[in-house]
Amino acid sequence: MILVLLGAPGAGKGTQGALLSAHLDVPRIATGDILRDAVRNGTEAGTEASRYMDAGELVPDDVILKLVREALRSPDAEGGAILDGFPRNVSQARALSELLVADDRRVGSVVVLDVAADVVVRRLGGRRTDPETGKVYHLEFDPPPAEVKARLERRPDDEEATIRHRLDVYARQTAPLVDFYEGIGVPVHRVDGAGSIEKVREEVVRATGAGAQG
Ligand code: AP5
Repeated sequence: MILVLLGAPGAGKGTQGALLSAHLDVPRIATGDILRDAVRNGTEAGTEASRYMDAGELVPDDVILKLVREALRSPDAEGGAILDGFPRNVSQARALSELLVADDRRVGSVVVLDVAADVVVRRLGGRRTDPETGKVYHLEFDPPPAEVKARLERRPDDEEATIRHRLDVYARQTAPLVDFYEGIGVPVHRVDGAGSIEKVREEVVRATGAGAQG
């Protein structure tokens, strides 16, 4: 099953994607994480991507598609995958369909996490990542253990003006994917992402029917 997770920046895609990945035992392919690794490792893709990411703009499709193709065709993803942060616009969604059809696969369902802009700003303002494990915390809503606090990092694009711009990019370029997927008959599940992490998790599992598998 290929499941696409949609939602504004800070809606909880990474948090819920990680929980669902463990629940379903399929990998989570998160283009933002792949890009941040590429930036850290100083690869060609990372160098090109970083200026777009820091500005809250989308990275060019050709860079993204190459990374996603590799990830989706890796042996790990043979049994399915959760796509977090991809596709991000209609042209990426079309390219994904073509890639999957070539491999005799398709997108099985889409989950949209709905969260209001003021909640997003609060969530991203308190988000911190552990560079050693990649685990994401929130200073208030998902507090880190005391022993890791000193090494936590804040993402450069989690500054308020950039968050507002990312929200705008989401509304213009990514939100139309709901219509796109409904238009081609893929089930789209809208989930209220404003509750606690556990409450949203239960709702996502229920909406996708994933409870039967875990
Ligand atoms: P990406 O990394 O994908 O960022 P994003 O979509 O902006 O989403 P975030 O990672 O900010 O938020 P999230 O929804 O995962 O929330 P999280 O679970 O962390 O992309 C970054 C950049 O890379 C893009 O701007 C672009 O430049 C580039 N890029 C990536 N993919 C691309 C693509 N396909 N094409 C082109 N460019 C691309 O949660 C946020 C915080 O809230 C955390 O602290 C968490 O602990 C907390 N939290 C989560 N859920 C809850 C809850 N229910 N209650 C309380 N707190 C919660």
